[in-house]
Amino acid sequence: MHAETKEPLKILITAGSTVEPIDPVRYISNRSTGAAGYSLARAAVKRGWRVCLITGPAGMDAPEGAELVRIETAEQMKDEVLARAGEADCLIMAAAVCDFRPERAAREKIKKTQGRLKLELVKTPDILSCVDERPGFIKVGFALETEKTAENARGKLTAKGLDMVIANTAGGGKDPFGEGRGRKFDYIIIGKDLEGAELKAVTKEKMAEEVLDRVQGLI
Ligand code: CTP
Repeated sequence: MHAETKEPLKILITAGSTVEPIDPVRYISNRSTGAAGYSLARAAVKRGWRVCLITGPAGMDAPEGAELVRIETAEQMKDEVLARAGEADCLIMAAAVCDFRPERAAREKIKKTQGRLKLELVKTPDILSCVDERPGFIKVGFALETEKTAENARGKLTAKGLDMVIANTAGGGKDPFGEGRGRKFDYIIIGKDLEGAELKAVTKEKMAEEVLDRVQGLI
């Protein structure tokens, strides 16, 4: 709650992957399941915050009490985030947005009669960088890295004008995707002072609580 007004905090959270169409039946995407974003949304609802979850395709139940906005592409996610960011107190981009999309989606299914298929990929917009900073608005990102995790995450914090970044590692035996069956993950939460707080072997629920505690502290 805001101390003076008792208005619930308005938080915008993105989750899951985006899917970028190749033709009407095929797409490129990534391995994100949405678990981190959905955990954050459930934890924020529990705190009495007003939650809007903008999600790519994810096989999870909608968090009860949150407004759910379903999107497919990075462009659609950008439009939905920009339409709501001005009203929100905080944005947490937990989505694994596809950085590239096929330049043109074929209108008809591409037939396999051709021996090879070349796809021209173009960059999608960086959503976090499209959201203007303003006083009192907290911008939080995730950083998924396969090397130099903390260093690269700090770079993203600065480049994207973030208040906080949650870094995690993929590859080298680490699988950051999904959740369940007691799975635990390592994170480094880095704030504007660039100091990192390590969360070792925590569930995504625990990570979500730690992140929201810090957001609450900033607001
Ligand atoms: N992000 C975004 N828009 C994109 C890509 C990523 O807003 N088009 C956000 C993600 O939701 C995340 C943060 O930026 O909060 C960092 O995403 P990540 O995939 O780790 O890094 P990228 O910025 O995509 O850079 P790279 O893939 O080169 O590491």
